Amino acid sequence: MSIVKPLIRLGFRELKGNDMSMVIDLYNSLSNESIYYRFRGFFKDFERYVKSVFSDPRNIVYGAFIGNELVGVLEAVYLSDGCYEMAIVVRDDYQGKGIGTRLVAYAINDLKRRGAKTLVAYSTPDNHRILAISRKFHGIIKCMYDECTTIFNLQSINVDQFLN
Ligand SMILES: CC(C)(COP(=O)(O)OP(=O)(O)OC[C@H]1O[C@@H](n2cnc3c(N)ncnc32)[C@H](O)[C@@H]1OP(=O)(O)O)[C@@H](O)C(=O)NCCC(=O)NCCS
Repeated sequence: MSIVKPLIRLGFRELKGNDMSMVIDLYNSLSNESIYYRFRGFFKDFERYVKSVFSDPRNIVYGAFIGNELVGVLEAVYLSDGCYEMAIVVRDDYQGKGIGTRLVAYAINDLKRRGAKTLVAYSTPDNHRILAISRKFHGIIKCMYDECTTIFNLQSINVDQFLN
């Protein structure tokens, strides 16, 4: 699917421990539908979750900003050397405008630069947006029952066309 999307002026950067409250606020703002897709269930203890992600220095968290507002978060959770699990969310009002695609591109570019080789993502089979994004980045998608697993071979992906 491809439609012309208005160009949004986005900024990206790695988020650190002192950004935690901003990330918790973003999670607290989400609709039940976004929470369901993000966590594959109705998960609510965001503070504890976000603290646990930031407590492991091997995890890398990326943020997408419009001005000073955090509009998207992507967590690359360390699994083993060179291998991370990706989870992403975009603020409800901003979904479907290309932000998720650009945040994934930013994260893949940075993870490649750090020498990472593999990124894994889990979703429900009805999560058409994340599956569409996964296809754009040549993820290998396997769906069984109520879960899809996507594997990205980072070193063979070129994200240049999505970076600006
Ligand atoms: C998934 C998510 C991060 C994607 O971010 P986004 O900014 O909304 O996504 P984008 O706008 O960059 O891209 C969405 C793509 O899905 C496509 N899409 C949307 N609905 C679709 C459908 N029903 N069937 C097929 N493709 C569809 C869009 O066309 C778009 O592709 P395009 O750019 O080629 O047109 C965001 O929607 C979100 O936060 N969802 C809730 C949490 C979640 O699902 N997280 C993922 C699991 S960890």
